Amino acid sequence: MASSPPLTSASLLLLAAAVALHLPAAASQACKSQTFSTAKFANCTDLPTLNASLHWTYDAAARPGPKLSIAYVAPPARPDGWIAWALNPTSSGMLGAQALVAFGDGDGAGAVAVKTYNISSYGPIAESEIAYAVTGRRAERSGGVIRLFATLALPAGSSGAAAVNQVWQVGAAVRGGVPVKHDFLPENLKSMGSLLLTSAEDGSPAPAPESGGGGNTPSIPRGNNLGGSGRNYGGGFFGVYGVLVLLCVFLGF
Ligand SMILES: *[C@@H]1O[C@H](CO)[C@@H](O)[C@H](O)[C@H]1NC(C)=O
Ligand SMILES: *[C@@H]1O[C@H](CO)[C@@H](O)[C@H](O)[C@H]1NC(C)=O
Repeated sequence: MASSPPLTSASLLLLAAAVALHLPAAASQACKSQTFSTAKFANCTDLPTLNASLHWTYDAAARPGPKLSIAYVAPPARPDGWIAWALNPTSSGMLGAQALVAFGDGDGAGAVAVKTYNISSYGPIAESEIAYAVTGRRAERSGGVIRLFATLALPAGSSGAAAVNQVWQVGAAVRGGVPVKHDFLPENLKSMGSLLLTSAEDGSPAPAPESGGGGNTPSIPRGNNLGGSGRNYGGGFFGVYGVLVLLCVFLGF
């Protein structure tokens, strides 16, 4: 029985071609093509639901404490709707989301404000301070998406390998200055994850946001950033899950 080297070679060639074609696709992210006129971020990730993406720069060496600058980009469920992104710093299950919510004045065209909500119960919520000092909050919309910008001061001592629990959401309407509850589709119910700020392996602080010109480094993302393999700020997976459910409810009062 003669072996068939031509066939083997062809197979290898096909395999190599498949790999070559697949790698760029796997490495490319839609968020990489999103640029901002006034901000640059070191990292971005396409969130797995709601056509949302998160851009961020984590400055672990900032004083007096680490800083997380983010841009959350998502299409509201309707033009008059809202988008929200939150961290959960606690392991308190369903409670504890520290949310940034962006919405306009209702006509789908005017200015968009960013408000903060400490979501501590199922009852009516009101704009309030949250657990993080927030600076640079602003939002803009065009092309069917809202872009929410903010910088959060994280607790000192949270440098190094760290993951935070994030929850994101979009809604269709705002009434009387209050976001109306969102849909309960699978997309809305799965919009949570862990955001890995720095890798456990490299341990080096993220570069300062203002150092040098090239903020949007086209680095290949490291693994699944929503996998939750990092160390949390005292939070846990179940805390994230709880907060998601909470976010599903918190606008429904
Ligand atoms: C974020 O970007 C920095 C600089 O490019 C990189 O070292 C780091 O690994 C990135 N982090 C993640 C979670 O992708
Ligand atoms: C958020 O609400 C909870 C429960 O009412 C409260 O314990 C916590 O101090 C609040 N956090 C902030 C930053 O106001």
